[in-house]
Amino acid sequence: MAWSRRRFMQSAAVGGSGLLLARGREAGAVSVADGSAPLIRLDSNENAAGPCPAAVEAIQRATRLANIYPFRFEGVLARAIAARHHVSPSQVLVGCGSSEILLNAVLAFTDARRGLLAPVPTYEEPARRARRLQRPVIDVPVGPDLQVDLDAMARHVEEAGLIFLCNPNNPTSVALSADRVRAFVADALKRSPDVVVLLDEAYIEYADGQGVESALPLALDSSRVLVSRTFSKMYGMAGLRVGYALGQPALLDRLGAWSTPMSVNTIGLHAATAALEVPGFEAGERTRNAEARAFTLQRLQALGMHAAHSHANFVMADVKRDSSAFRDACRAQGVAVGRPFPPLTTHARISIGTLAEMQRACAVFDNVLGA
Ligand SMILES: Cc1ncc(COP(=O)(O)O)c(C=O)c1O
Repeated sequence: MAWSRRRFMQSAAVGGSGLLLARGREAGAVSVADGSAPLIRLDSNENAAGPCPAAVEAIQRATRLANIYPFRFEGVLARAIAARHHVSPSQVLVGCGSSEILLNAVLAFTDARRGLLAPVPTYEEPARRARRLQRPVIDVPVGPDLQVDLDAMARHVEEAGLIFLCNPNNPTSVALSADRVRAFVADALKRSPDVVVLLDEAYIEYADGQGVESALPLALDSSRVLVSRTFSKMYGMAGLRVGYALGQPALLDRLGAWSTPMSVNTIGLHAATAALEVPGFEAGERTRNAEARAFTLQRLQALGMHAAHSHANFVMADVKRDSSAFRDACRAQGVAVGRPFPPLTTHARISIGTLAEMQRACAVFDNVLGA
């Protein structure tokens, strides 16, 4: 039996309010493969730990505000985000997940003549939107080290209205250093008088330093650079749909012209605001993810699988066989890993769950790869 309303009601009845207050998958609110064995979901880069307790309490309180239009609370979240990044609220645009920001950027900054320039593979929604709009898409394959090929991208800047750079990159997990991003952006802005550069930083909070930093200073400095962020990953709120863009107000106005009015709901706004107020949350979450990620990488290496150095809550491992077959075999043993990302057909993207989940998952990888 797939996840069902009946099953939810049963677990809610068993867990009572404890279900809502427990954190993450340990709360029992996981999807179920077939009603017998729980499925370990390592396929969508969700945060297995779920929202922090302060956010969960805010969600509960905000259910009583469900009759109130969200515009009354948007400013509160924009101010909390602004305070976190030391910017002005006019440099923040909230969206229904960062998806709304990315998709509207394609609408706002590409046209039939100048399309989207992006690496392949990367987060594919912007390219999918551009293709649906029949706007040109210039795909630039990543290098053999899985790193975005900035030199090759630079050669196509004049053809683009929007350059999409996901850093750290999904699905490859690697990241460009702040120096390389800065040099690429400066060169792109010089080559083209009106191209816009969008840096998708959905996973930047997980980056482990080593020169990898947010491009926010570039967005504050240039009228043609945007950064997007999300509460879906580190903040564990993928189901609530809260994201945002950072940049100069005039550029955000061009982007915001495409926003759905009040696209972020009242409950999401309260949860995100509460999460930003928790001291030390990001550092704790970074450590939790880094421990489970290091364990996973070490186990994969012991199995003879190479995985690139990950700056995210997932790893990209060369499983040295057709990754669809690997995925199907893992799924049959209760572990869901990411779908194939052509042209990397022997690579599997594995999201990092809790340490306990990764211990169980690695035993399954062992079975499958050893078979
Ligand atoms: C790189 C990247 N950007 C953006 C998104 C969209 O995230 P959301 O709309 O939940 O903020 C995702 C989702 O997986 C992602 O991986």
